[in-house]
Amino acid sequence: MLVNTIVTENVDDAVEYLRAGRLVAFPTETVYGLGADAMNESAVRGVFLVKGRPPSHPLIVHIGDTKYLEVFAKNITNSARILAEKFWPGPLTLVLDKTDQVPEVVTGGQSSVALRFPSHPIARDLLSKFGGGVVGPSANKFGRLSPTQPNDVLSDLGGDIDLVLDGGACTVGIESTIVGFDGNTPLLLRPGMITTEEISSVLSVSVEPAGERAPRVSGSLPSHYAPNTPLILVKPNVLKSEIERRLSKNDRIAVLAFSDLSSFADHLYYVEVSSDAKVYARTLYHELRELDQKKCDAILVEEVPTTNPWSGIRDRLLRAAYR
Ligand code: TXA
Ligand code: MG
Repeated sequence: MLVNTIVTENVDDAVEYLRAGRLVAFPTETVYGLGADAMNESAVRGVFLVKGRPPSHPLIVHIGDTKYLEVFAKNITNSARILAEKFWPGPLTLVLDKTDQVPEVVTGGQSSVALRFPSHPIARDLLSKFGGGVVGPSANKFGRLSPTQPNDVLSDLGGDIDLVLDGGACTVGIESTIVGFDGNTPLLLRPGMITTEEISSVLSVSVEPAGERAPRVSGSLPSHYAPNTPLILVKPNVLKSEIERRLSKNDRIAVLAFSDLSSFADHLYYVEVSSDAKVYARTLYHELRELDQKKCDAILVEEVPTTNPWSGIRDRLLRAAYR
């Protein structure tokens, strides 16, 4: 059913829509979320429907105060409390044992729940006025690039959702770091801009790769976060020769690179990206969306460093490149 999607900066309207069981896209510092009242099962089912997401793939519950930790999670370990204290509000999601209050539809039948207290001022205002939990997968169709601006939400979900709360462009730009626990040992379920180094140093124990201990859920599928145009990762030392090879076959290409490509400017679309990981992440998805629009044969992306600050970005690029 097609609805008239309202775009507004009015937080009170968004709260009213959430209370009425309707779907509201809202800004967070990472990406826009597709919000619904976590306690309203039919609203949550609507989120899965609109995204085209399999019901077994659980949703993150967003909260506007640390006090809701106890409402939605139990058996909260010391490590989890320390991380919440240190990184909330912010781009960190904690996977914890769920309380009976959390509807099964939210967690895809798992006994754990993912919780996050975002720092975006409008998200905080929304969540504190709403006063409960709001589920929020990224506000995109399943498997596609997450939206980082209201227009990105509209191009994916316009006509499918009731309201987009406009909070401008997201400042972090890729999805939150997700951490689970095996006892007090932190496990990395999804890398993000809060790095394992930062988490390990706060806890004084190493964050371990989740490996076999990871639940098999979306975002952990190899192909995810992908543009429609094939995305190809290219090593810096062969970037120019790869561009030349493709141009010589008359391929239409778009390139995201650290290097200055102005000598090719007449023959391809290119974006010169920042060598600062934080700045790179902020604009990555929007730039990929724009390059996707050019309907080229390929988007070439210069490989990013293997150092810690880049690990979330590397993860998303590898998934986007996987076919
Ligand atoms: O930054 C973010 O995390 C954004 C913003 C909107 O908050 N949200 C987001 O949601 O990225 P989504 O649904 O696109 O990704 C949530 C990830 C999925 O990989 C999901 O499988 C995982 O969190 N997840 C949710 N609940 C889980 C659980 N109980 N156990 C393990 N993984 C879980
Ligand atoms: Mg997503």
